[in-house]
Amino acid sequence: MSLFKRNKHSSYLEWAKLHSAAKYNLATSGMLSYPLAELPVTLADLEINGPNTYGYAPLVERIAARCGVRPECVVTANGTSMANHLALATILEPGDEVLIEQPTYGLFLDVATYLGASIVRFGRRAEDEFQIDLDELQSKITPKTRLIVITNLHNPTGAFTNEATLRRVGEMAKAVGAWVLVDEVYLDLVPPEEFSSPFRTSALYGDNFVVTNSLTKAYGLSGIRCGWILSSPELAARIKRVDDLMSGSPVFPAELLGVIALDNLDKIAARAATLLKPNRAALAAFLDTRDDLDVFRAQWGTIAFPRLKTGNAEAFFELLRAEFETSVVPGRFFEMPENFRIGLGGDVSMTAEGLRRLGHALDAHAG
Ligand SMILES: Cc1ncc(COP(=O)(O)O)c(C=O)c1O
Repeated sequence: MSLFKRNKHSSYLEWAKLHSAAKYNLATSGMLSYPLAELPVTLADLEINGPNTYGYAPLVERIAARCGVRPECVVTANGTSMANHLALATILEPGDEVLIEQPTYGLFLDVATYLGASIVRFGRRAEDEFQIDLDELQSKITPKTRLIVITNLHNPTGAFTNEATLRRVGEMAKAVGAWVLVDEVYLDLVPPEEFSSPFRTSALYGDNFVVTNSLTKAYGLSGIRCGWILSSPELAARIKRVDDLMSGSPVFPAELLGVIALDNLDKIAARAATLLKPNRAALAAFLDTRDDLDVFRAQWGTIAFPRLKTGNAEAFFELLRAEFETSVVPGRFFEMPENFRIGLGGDVSMTAEGLRRLGHALDAHAG
């Protein structure tokens, strides 16, 4: 493949950065920004430079302790975005087969294409509540399969994949020497009772698992870009070599803030819960009133992905924005153009008003 023909853009991220904003913004998937003033931090706690070659040790240790892995299994990264890029770039050679769920978070497709991998898809269907169909997945695995990519919770639907299913995917991958990448950026929104161990991460399900995560979505801490990869120590060492191609040292003040955030995560999570509970209730009440939408109702998380049963969806998004000042993520970014993604991590009154306007726009669209 010619270098000049490689995919070098992401239409979704470009749209998210330039066109998603609106007065009533239901297009974000993360929690409302957590204010710095709410963290127990003073200027004296921060510093510009510090000992952080390959990640500030206290940060790495906290991530390891939180996830139940050894520090040598942790590579810190600039958000889940860079964690995903590093993991894919380390594992995939041009021509390698990568199995990616459909629908998925578009960046996986964009980065795998950029890396020259050969992409194969496995479906997650509305009629299966967007669960992974293990038989279909098995039928797509070949000796050339190098990596299987899953988001958990699933972006765009919020569907949860349980431990038994993930362990089975791990075994199927292992049989052909493949890795399983699980992007867990929304997983902390699932209550701890749903897991058999005190740790949520699938990094503990086998040595061919590679997990990416950050404090961005579930906690509203996007600005400190505290992300990480969990993998076997051998793969982690290789990922660090690839990271040398992309970055010098991490941003030290952000790492210090990451340490403080991790030490106060329960409080930050409690704030997220106080927003999500009423917002999820508002969504449920809204959906109860709509027979023009088909929707899988995810149990947890910040997102829903309804399908507009009739009419031109793109025209509806235009109307929603132009006349009702409300944005959602058009389903075309998830290869499902009749659907749209609603985000529930925002301010409670903004979300309620956004949903109200969404209803009015649907009525106007139908009429
Ligand atoms: C599945 C998934 N992974 C990664 C990201 C990016 O995360 P971060 O902000 O930590 O870079 C997103 C953002 O929407 C996402 O939905």
